[in-house]
Amino acid sequence: MAAKDNVKIAPASGKLGVLIPGIGAVSTTFIAGVEAIKRGLGLPVGSLTQLATIRLGKRTDGRSPKIKDFVPLAGLDQLVFGGWDIYEDTAYEAAVNAKVLEPALLSQLKEPLAAIKPMKAVFDHEYVRRINGPNVKTKGSKMDKAMELMDDIAQFKKSTGADRLIMIWCGSTEVFHKPGAVHETLEKFEEGLRQDDPEIAPSQIYAYAALKSGVPYANGAPNLTTDLPALLDLARDRNIPICGKDFKTGQTFMKTLLAPGFKARMLGINGWFSTNILGNRDGEVLEDPGSFKSKEETKLSVLDTILQPKLYPDLYENLYHVVRINYYPPRGDQKEGWDNIDIFGWLGYPMQIKVDFLCRDSILAAPLVLDLVLFLDLAQRSGMRGIQEWLSFYFKAPMHAPGLYPEHDIFIQLMKLKNTLRHMRGEDLITHLGLEYYD
Ligand SMILES: NC(=O)c1ccc[n+]([C@@H]2O[C@H](COP(=O)([O-])OP(=O)(O)OC[C@H]3O[C@@H](n4cnc5c(N)ncnc54)[C@H](O)[C@@H]3O)[C@@H](O)[C@H]2O)c1
Repeated sequence: MAAKDNVKIAPASGKLGVLIPGIGAVSTTFIAGVEAIKRGLGLPVGSLTQLATIRLGKRTDGRSPKIKDFVPLAGLDQLVFGGWDIYEDTAYEAAVNAKVLEPALLSQLKEPLAAIKPMKAVFDHEYVRRINGPNVKTKGSKMDKAMELMDDIAQFKKSTGADRLIMIWCGSTEVFHKPGAVHETLEKFEEGLRQDDPEIAPSQIYAYAALKSGVPYANGAPNLTTDLPALLDLARDRNIPICGKDFKTGQTFMKTLLAPGFKARMLGINGWFSTNILGNRDGEVLEDPGSFKSKEETKLSVLDTILQPKLYPDLYENLYHVVRINYYPPRGDQKEGWDNIDIFGWLGYPMQIKVDFLCRDSILAAPLVLDLVLFLDLAQRSGMRGIQEWLSFYFKAPMHAPGLYPEHDIFIQLMKLKNTLRHMRGEDLITHLGLEYYD
């Protein structure tokens, strides 16, 4: 028997509009994937919202509905898509260029993909240095551009008839910046927009426009966006959920699988050398040291939090952690991520582990985009606001409340996500204590 709902959740009726800055490899693989799945041309592999079940009650109860039957989520046929890019290519042309999906599959999806024409982007070459394109907003101050984005959002909503919207950044990784004085309060931020403050990045202008329009925002890249006091306050004041940052897909996904395992067994680690070769546009942008620095920060942050070297100095204090990314065009989107891990066991005896993950970046990222869109919409309809820590599962550098450390262990993240869903529906949280089976 279902328990009483803890949280009042508005129904997922009508269309859900997905607005994406960045019509590139990840976003077109996501959109094409949804269209393919709707037509029975593929399966939503990698998506919790489509495939995963959630256990309810005791292990003896036999209640494991699919997540999508347990909480009210928008269906794939309710999704409509739009976005912005500095290039004029439609989503079909961008998907063909990205070379992630087979041309034979794309040609079957040409109609819906070709209908998605990117709106003019808010772009600043200082923030993404390796690319340049013609499809950009050029007039006025940063505030004027934010207003234009708000107009785009309103127009999209009207023309598609969408009931609700979500924005998810799938744009290039911007150059590393630390928060500055202009980010301290909403007032300073808005003044900065009017004064064209160089510390305000394009992604922050999109996020500002989304939040001002009442639209939840997710950040799929590592750059500084909603993790700023000004935008955090705006999200809370307007009761809008946000989450980020940097999709956890290839190498960092592997890291957050392996590191908790070594720590669980109290095995030590001396060194972890991670290197990547990739040849897509993302790889090209990451050749720029400023963009790489944003990525390096999120990639490096993971191990420290999982391993807690201050609590376990004998095992992890001297860990030497290196991350490298090299642009290597022959591989396209099919990245190779190597990890050499120098571990040690009983009495300090050394051992080595080599992981060579021949992965497909956008194939791994697309289901994450889908889940984030559907879960952020659920959060919005459930009255949840501000940082959605339960969505940490999807990110390399999960956003978290000030004073808290982020949770990186993927199994704790999954438990947190499922317990949040149980909490919403008034079901018992699962602690895995299990003593009651042995009384
Ligand atoms: N694929 C993965 O596994 C993965 C994992 C984590 C993070 N990411 C991040 O996701 C993002 C997208 O990756 P991708 O492989 O699709 O890259 P991509 O280069 O194929 O696509 C990014 C697109 O964003 C556009 N763009 C750049 N600045 C813009 C702006 N200001 N406004 C609108 N459009 C803008 C570019 O023109 C490009 O078409 C990157 O930041 C990447 O680092 C990807």
